[in-house]
Amino acid sequence: MRLDPATNHTQRHCSALNKNYQLIELKLHIEPIKDKEEIPFDLLELADPSRFQIESYLNTGLCFIAKFKSEIVGVIVLNEIDSTVIEIKNIAIKESEQGKGFGKALLKYSEKVSRESGYQKLIIGTGNSSVGQLALYQKEGFEIDRIEKNFFLKNYTEPIFENGIQCKHMVILEKKLEK
Ligand code: COA
Repeated sequence: MRLDPATNHTQRHCSALNKNYQLIELKLHIEPIKDKEEIPFDLLELADPSRFQIESYLNTGLCFIAKFKSEIVGVIVLNEIDSTVIEIKNIAIKESEQGKGFGKALLKYSEKVSRESGYQKLIIGTGNSSVGQLALYQKEGFEIDRIEKNFFLKNYTEPIFENGIQCKHMVILEKKLEK
């Protein structure tokens, strides 16, 4: 999930990412989307209920899709914050394919692409109610950096509930990208 969607990123480093990165991992084929029509909004909406927010970070970010046996099973959107920091704005795996390691593979791929593109830090934000996601990101080496209080109350029109908890605050985690 996300930080300020209106952040005005430069294109320079995003285009640095836009090489022909491809990774076959767990027989997962990950690559930047080539055509806007390929954007899997149904998957992006699993991670973010706001189409408005999605559209705004798609304008500045780079969207990758993950295919397994030629079927789209996952998506990730990376967005530059500044010349040293990149943010995962959206990560989602098709519901029937969750729990098979694909989400981890996409996180590892994001790290690889970001490190190779010269960024020093990868960040990801998630809701206070996203218990599984908080577990996953910390298992993958992300550490909690800060909390943006009431982010979801301020930026989303409908209340969000997960695991019986109201999603109010954005927990921002970071991972330093060692060379
Ligand atoms: N407690 C502890 N660990 C948990 C957990 C929980 N409640 N829920 C998940 N995990 C751990 C699993 O144990 C597993 O780690 P392990 O391999 O060490 O056991 C890991 O998280 C899951 O890994 P993986 O199978 O790669 O995840 P995935 O393919 O299901 O992808 C998401 C993870 C979050 C991307 C996916 O579930 C998804 O698309 N969810 C809906 C969209 C979403 O919420 N996106 C993120 C918005 S911030």
